[in-house]
Amino acid sequence: MKRLSVLGSTGSIGCNVLNIVAMFPDNFVVKALAAKTNVALLARQIEQFRPELAVVWDEARARELKDRIAAGVAVEILCGEAGYRTAATYDSADMTVTAMVGAAGLMPTLDAIDAGKTIALANKETLVMAGDIVMQRAARQGIQILPIDSEHSAIFQCLQGERKQDLDRILLTASGGPFLNRPKETFKSITLAEALNHPNWQMGRKITIDSATLMNKGLEVLEAKCLFGVSRERIEVVIHPQSVIHSMVAYRDGSVIAQLGIPDMKVAIAYALSYPQRLPLGQPLPAFNACGALTFAQPDLEKFPCLALAFDACETGGTLPAVLNAANEVAVNGFLKKTISFVEIPTVVEQTMTKHPVVSNPELADIIAADQWARKQAEAEIERLRD
Ligand SMILES: NC(=O)c1ccc[n+]([C@@H]2O[C@H](COP(=O)([O-])OP(=O)(O)OC[C@H]3O[C@@H](n4cnc5c(N)ncnc54)[C@H](OP(=O)(O)O)[C@@H]3O)[C@@H](O)[C@H]2O)c1
Repeated sequence: MKRLSVLGSTGSIGCNVLNIVAMFPDNFVVKALAAKTNVALLARQIEQFRPELAVVWDEARARELKDRIAAGVAVEILCGEAGYRTAATYDSADMTVTAMVGAAGLMPTLDAIDAGKTIALANKETLVMAGDIVMQRAARQGIQILPIDSEHSAIFQCLQGERKQDLDRILLTASGGPFLNRPKETFKSITLAEALNHPNWQMGRKITIDSATLMNKGLEVLEAKCLFGVSRERIEVVIHPQSVIHSMVAYRDGSVIAQLGIPDMKVAIAYALSYPQRLPLGQPLPAFNACGALTFAQPDLEKFPCLALAFDACETGGTLPAVLNAANEVAVNGFLKKTISFVEIPTVVEQTMTKHPVVSNPELADIIAADQWARKQAEAEIERLRD
């Protein structure tokens, strides 16, 4: 029986985690849940999973949550960053699932590592911002970081039983998003609804926009570099529109091992939750006899400049990945609020990165300062675009 604390329980990944818990009540029990704003859903999750602790972002929502909980349901309710950090390190949980979105994931994840919790990691921003620090702390504590991202889960599965020194390269697949075949000249007229309409995956709004710009793939390269301890040159992005192959690992004898499945996050989530065991999920296999050709192509960096910016950040390192991440969060938020257009997302990120004085081998404080600086700078870039 694994005892879970789920951070970001009301999101796309968080709900999928709880679906798996509901399917396997003998394997998992929920000890803590944390959300930000969706009090109505969190209240339903508390009724169903009966955690000891529930956390929301602010006091008003904590009061609203208390009012929604039926009498007789015993749950401690906390709020704010302190509440989130309590959930991350909750005594009676042994695994912390990091399924919140954005840079807000970094500190709770570090706290959970310091508290010796196994991490099931969906929040890729944590590794993008401070991958070296996170991985060093995890190694020092002797704890595992199990990937939930489907590509990283695939790579993790392809690495099982192999020797690190035999690895040649990681082949990180990308669907290419909704605009893979759309002519670049028409990108200026891309609407929010079009960008939110991913062809293969159902996800939260931020990652869906990141998938449309291919920034998500860039963030995944940064994530893979830290998680698997490989250099940037050994990570290749391969466009694979069918999303049947979730990623591959090539070995020095020329063998390539791939992990395949239907595009559904359940498999990757369940593997992280139950590793090394595999759960009988009852998932259908890809329809090999009917799916036709599996195709592969190189990413077009001119059409998708966010991917090139992420490659730059990965190669430069230091505080630049945190700046890329923060500027992207601000820019995507601007696009979601219709303050900037789709093609202005990379402009805001690039302008912010260009102005950043990179700190090499940063301490955590340098990374947090860079994140805060980049948010202000990116807001200023958006203002400039509006003038
Ligand atoms: N969705 C996927 O298929 C997928 C795949 C791979 C990796 N990931 C990664 O998993 C993470 C979550 O993605 P998602 O698609 O599940 O996102 P999502 O649907 O937007 O859910 C985000 C969750 O985080 C909470 N949250 C939002 N802002 C927060 C903040 N500042 N502090 C604390 N909690 C906050 C939300 O709470 P409220 O809803 O209550 O406001 C919600 O529970 C991201 O890092 C993403 O890159 C997602």
